[in-house]
This record gives sequence, structure tokens and C-alpha cells, in this order.
Amino acid sequence: MTVILGLESSCDDSAAALVSSDRRILAQAVVGQNAAHQPYGGVVPEIAARAHVEILPGLISGVLADARLSVHDVDAIAATAGPGLIGGVMVALLAGKGLALAAGKPLIAVNHLEGHALSPRLADPDLDFPYLLLLVSGGHCQLLEVRGVGAYRRLATTIDDAAGEAFDKAAKLLGLGYPGGPAIEELAATGDAAAVPLPCPLVGSSDPNFSFAGLKSAVQRAVVSGDFAHADIAASFQQAVVDCLLDRTTIALSVSDAPALVVAGGVAANQPIRSALADLAARNGRGFSVPPGWLCTDNAAMIAWVGAERLAAGLIDGLDAPARARWPLDDSAEKVRGAGVKA
Ligand code: KG4
Ligand code: ZN
Repeated sequence: MTVILGLESSCDDSAAALVSSDRRILAQAVVGQNAAHQPYGGVVPEIAARAHVEILPGLISGVLADARLSVHDVDAIAATAGPGLIGGVMVALLAGKGLALAAGKPLIAVNHLEGHALSPRLADPDLDFPYLLLLVSGGHCQLLEVRGVGAYRRLATTIDDAAGEAFDKAAKLLGLGYPGGPAIEELAATGDAAAVPLPCPLVGSSDPNFSFAGLKSAVQRAVVSGDFAHADIAASFQQAVVDCLLDRTTIALSVSDAPALVVAGGVAANQPIRSALADLAARNGRGFSVPPGWLCTDNAAMIAWVGAERLAAGLIDGLDAPARARWPLDDSAEKVRGAGVKA
């Protein structure tokens, strides 16, 4: 059994966690910065980076105290090294390097996307490789075949906005706060999903990639027209996203024989999306797994878990590991325009 200290600061959440290789979360803490970014309707990189510098050290000492451990008791330090907002990425990575150097522990430089991709295995001990993963977050919307630690095949990505970005932009148009996903989900529960005709870009096409920009423009037109209640727009928008995700995932299921469908990333916290994908998996005779909501949005437990999986595989990094703004999980996948930098 090993214990890993995980650190995360690639977007607007500062987080630290201690996780054991037998899937126990010994301690964890996440501090978001919603209030600081809310006036701007999105994350301001410079504000985020400065906040991580102030917040992260206290979270590290806090989780160690909660678990009654010192840094000398852990087996490795796992820190997000990208992709993300580079000023923020450097905070956790350099904190991790400092701790690794001072305590003589191995460093594991973690790809934040691998954190989301392997997080379902932290929550579900029965989830084996391979699985088909729908990764839906603020910066990414991808379908990947997860074949093992560090072994990914990308089947689809977005050609413009990520799914979470679409939620955030629609929320801004509706005058809701940031982040938009939870606010839209709450408002949508009181609206009629059939009230506003909205397009579902690329649905019906055999191209498995995603597109959400047209949907955002349609939401804008619906808001400006003044013809619809905001709750009805929110509900119709959420339904359109569900329809897009189901349509694209159906194509991926036809080309992948992975026994389970898995969904992860911040947007996977959305209840209607979780249940629609669970139904899709059942209809296709596949298993289904989704982590609890707190493990879908950014956190350090998933980073520590990647550390545990990589340490077990002997995959450790040097203290010269780079911070990367962009870092695809599948290097061989074709580049597409528009894919975001957040994870
Ligand atoms: O994975 P995450 O915490 O950060 C990134 O790595 O991007 O994802 C954040 C995204 C935001 O766009 C947020 O609006 C969305 O996840 N999100 C949701 C929900 N909770 C968070 N989207 C839809 N429904 C939710 N309940
Ligand atoms: Zn993320």
C-alpha cells in the first residue's frame, strides 16, 4: 500500500489530497475562486495564478494535519503539470517539486486530463481497462478509449467549444453566475425542455466530433427575442447538450467494443447527463460508471490517484518535468481547430 500527496492548480480550483493505493481518501481539500472570477463571467488567468500562490500551501499543511501525516510519510508527490492556465499550473508543479526535493520523494508530473480519465477507477474498484470515456469539462469534450495508464486513443473531440464552456456561455447569456453548469441545471429543473427549438450541431452526421458554437448562438437569439422564459431556454439548452452527447457517444460505441462506458469531468456532475448516459450504456449492453459529483469537478484526489497508478507502474518524473499549457492524452490524434486549453 502506498500513500500519495496530490496537488492541483491548473484552472480556478486550488486543491490538495492524500490518497492511498487501496482507494482510501485520507484527507482532501478544494478551494474554488468563483467569487473572484464571477464579475468577469469566466476565469481570469492572472487572478487565478496569484490566488493559487496564496491558497495552496495552507491546503497542503491542512491535509497532512488532517491525516496526521508528515510529508516524510508519503510515498510520492503527484502534481498537475498541465494542460491548463500556465501561471496556475506552475504553482502546484513547483510546490510539488519543492516538497519532493526537500523530503527526498519521487515526483509524478500528472496530466490533468489523465486525472479526470482515471478518476472513475478511484471511485469504482471493479472498473477495469479498457473503457470508453466521455470526458466533458470546462476545456475539453472528448471521447477516448482508455486502454491502460498512459494509453489512450482519442476517437472524437470538439471542433469549437467544450461542453462546460457551452454551459458557461449559455449561463452568461441568461444572466446567471459562473460557473454556469450548476446554475443552468438548477434553472432547467423548473423549465420546459421542449419549449425552445434549438439546434443540435452535427447530430446525424457520421463525423464523431462535437460542436457547440452554433448552439450558443441559438441561445443568444432566443434570449434577445424576448419570446421565451429563461427557465425554458435553460431546460431546452440542457436537453440539446444531452442530445448531442448521446448522438456522438452512440457513434463511438459502434467503433469501440470496450465493455464499459464511463463519463468524467466537471460536466459529468450534471444529473440529467449522468442518467441519459447510464440509459445509453444499458441499451447498448455495456457497463456504466461515473464518479460522484465532487470527483467530477476539479480536485486533487484524482491527481493523487494518477500518482498511485503511475507509481505502481514505475512511471516517475525528474525534477526538470516541464509545465505544459497544452498536453493531449493521445499525441497521435489529429489536431482539430478550436479545442480549448482548460482541462
Ligand atoms: O472539470 P472541471 O471542474 O474543470 C475543468 O477542468 O474545466 O469542469 C468545469 C466545468 C465548468 O464549465 C462548469 O460549468 C461545468 O464543468 N459543470 C457543470 C456542472 N458542474 C460543473 N456543467 C453542467 N452541469 C453541472 N452540474
Ligand atoms: Zn478539470
